[in-house]
Amino acid sequence: MAHASLALQAALKQVSAEMDRQFDLLLAVPGDPRKGLYEAMRHAAIGGGKRLRPLLVSATAQLFGVDRTCIARTALALECIHVYSLIHDDLPAMDDDDMRRGKPTVHKAFDEATAILAGDCLHALAFEVIADEKTHPDPFVRIELSGTLAVAAGPAGMAGGQMMDLEAEKSSFDLATVTRLQAMKTGALISCAVESGAILGRVPIEGRTGLRGYARDVGLAFQIADDILDAEGDEALVGKKLQKDGEAGKETFLSLLGLERAREQARMLVDQAIEHLKPYGTEADLLRDIARYTLERDR
Ligand code: IPE
Ligand code: IPE
Ligand code: MG
Ligand code: MG
Ligand code: MG
Repeated sequence: MAHASLALQAALKQVSAEMDRQFDLLLAVPGDPRKGLYEAMRHAAIGGGKRLRPLLVSATAQLFGVDRTCIARTALALECIHVYSLIHDDLPAMDDDDMRRGKPTVHKAFDEATAILAGDCLHALAFEVIADEKTHPDPFVRIELSGTLAVAAGPAGMAGGQMMDLEAEKSSFDLATVTRLQAMKTGALISCAVESGAILGRVPIEGRTGLRGYARDVGLAFQIADDILDAEGDEALVGKKLQKDGEAGKETFLSLLGLERAREQARMLVDQAIEHLKPYGTEADLLRDIARYTLERDR
């Protein structure tokens, strides 16, 4: 794990183990014809990925002393949406990818219909997890969590951003449009992770400004880093096929700004994200480390 501080490495390890454990419980394989569906979900969800969104839920909620079970279940719901988005993103109708998290993509390891249904199920399971009172005893908190996640996943967030991303292969978008696209396809769920931590912490809306600014900047820096890795990362480390954006003629920060200016822009966003955490002391150091890691990562 290059460039991650020791505290961040420990936190990533802990959150990854917790997510694997939660998915294992959630996705017990039934002894009926749905077996393949559950196996496909387990293939995608267990044992891989950086678990950045769960970590953001956790690092934010920890600022406010939130109960561990509430954090773990909320983080699980966010990761369900993320994994579903990856399964569908890799489908032949979208990016047509064979590798994800160092393994064959779900439609390769199983088949296309199973991959579509595995994504559908993880989407639904996210809201099932949130609706359960084990996630939070207060129904108002659960409603706010689910409403926030629905907006982040839907046409105003991730799925809408994915549509714009497909259009970015055909049209020449300007920087403002690419920024909006990235903020939707990747930023929305990252922002939702931080917001969910604040919701669990019962932070009033007016107290969330700094955290929202932080999340917005981290989300954009994270997607610029994804685009940079696509152009010059190491496929074995990243665990997915690279050089896809250039081949598809997709408009990204990189195609618009070039490598150096894109990197500079991402660095500026990371600094700005950390600046947003000024109201917090050392208790927010993990969030600061995460901001740096979004850009310095090699996978
Ligand atoms: C990849 O997300 C897709 C984007 C939104 C850029 P991640 O880079 O977080 O993927 P995993 O979860 O680590 O596999
Ligand atoms: C996918 O973006 C973002 C979502 C899944 C919402 P990319 O297509 O750039 O992600 P990778 O590079 O395949 O992980
Ligand atoms: Mg894509
Ligand atoms: Mg893709
Ligand atoms: Mg990419």
